[in-house]
Amino acid sequence: MPARLLIEGGVALKGEVAVSAAKNAALPALAAALLTARPLTLTNVPELGDVRTMLKLLATLGARVERRGREVTLTVERVTSDLAPYELVSTMRASVLVLGPLVARHGSARVALPGGCAIGVRPIDQHLKGLAKLGAEIVIENGYVVARASRLKGARISTDMVTVTGTENLMMAAALAEGVTVIENAAREPEVGDLAVLLAAMGARLDGIGTGRIEIQGVPELAGAVHRVVPDRIEAGTLLVAGAITHGDVRVTDMVPDHLAAVLAKLDECGVALETGPSWVRVRAGERARAADIVTSPFPGFPTDMQAQLMTLLGLADGQSTVTETIFENRFMHAAELARMGASITTDGSIAIVRGVDAYQGAPVMASDLRASAALVLAGLAARGRTEVSRIYHLDRGYERLETKLAALGARIERRP
Ligand code: EPU
Repeated sequence: MPARLLIEGGVALKGEVAVSAAKNAALPALAAALLTARPLTLTNVPELGDVRTMLKLLATLGARVERRGREVTLTVERVTSDLAPYELVSTMRASVLVLGPLVARHGSARVALPGGCAIGVRPIDQHLKGLAKLGAEIVIENGYVVARASRLKGARISTDMVTVTGTENLMMAAALAEGVTVIENAAREPEVGDLAVLLAAMGARLDGIGTGRIEIQGVPELAGAVHRVVPDRIEAGTLLVAGAITHGDVRVTDMVPDHLAAVLAKLDECGVALETGPSWVRVRAGERARAADIVTSPFPGFPTDMQAQLMTLLGLADGQSTVTETIFENRFMHAAELARMGASITTDGSIAIVRGVDAYQGAPVMASDLRASAALVLAGLAARGRTEVSRIYHLDRGYERLETKLAALGARIERRP
């Protein structure tokens, strides 16, 4: 049987917990190693399923991987293969982040089309449209994107919607293109900003990071760099909700409170007491949370990656809340599992109506994707009795030893093989 988590609910979490580096910043940072022949070192790479998958993929493309604990050095003296195979891309969509760097540095890439996943269809048409604007010739052959270019040329690109990995792919490609690229409607997520910091350290020339208009002056070559990956705002938010939902007192450290402003504002609206320092937030929640409405949107809006966790808190709040998911069309899979624990949630398309109940009951539940898994763990922490969360390989893709961190705060939680 795949690994599960057993949780005895009802313990108020107390203490201090440090956040790991962001999965969604580490993955593009690793892919950026393809842009240079020189070594690229990341100093705080989290131990995650998705990081292992990315390292495996990069190794098949020609990267020498040296790992000393959390420090990873990648050296791609030569790209030895341009193929990102379906086996890897289908387990992790972020594999598509090798597309831009491969075309820019090597002149060709064959990357399996990711296909849909548990939370939505998730096309990559904007990545392809942008690369075509930069001069790549792109065809779809037997389920693979085949892209070729001698040297990419700077261009003005406007994406139809805000896309995080799309912006990252295009930034990496444009960094080695000839001339100036402008990306309009660019993603403003902190993970995009972190990639920009890394690219700048490698010698790229970028402007407008953190705004919707990024300008990149291409250079012929990039150098190596040493980089510390930005803290994981979604892990930080998840741990804060763990404190709130158990009526605990938890200080989450090594985080950037500004990156979580929309979530902190919502917790405040729910009546959760927060104290914020330069790199930490303390949560104390004595009372029952108040209902609140959430609408997910690109940064700096409320992140879709925190929607499931907040819904879990709202499921126990006083009153009725509405949760509107605008980024992904199928990201309410946790609602049906929460209902098995006693939640009262009805969904209709992109809207969930959450009527707060007094308590959750422990139950066997199944994780369907990464953030849904986190939501079920949170529900288990608050529930009366025992919860068993199965299929936690989803959780392990993006949270570094979440159960160890929760146990250190007093949670009765155990991993079973
Ligand atoms: N979209 C398109 N065409 C494209 C690209 C995106 O239609 O070419 C649509 C998507 O289907 C979606 C919306 O645009 O409806 C936004 O998708 P986006 O491209 O921003 O998502 P992503 O880059 O694939 C990243 C994170 C996700 C996070 C989203 C939104 C990484 C590796 N992944 O995905 O993280 O939910 O941005 O913020 O950065 C997670 O960590 O659990 C996770 C799913």
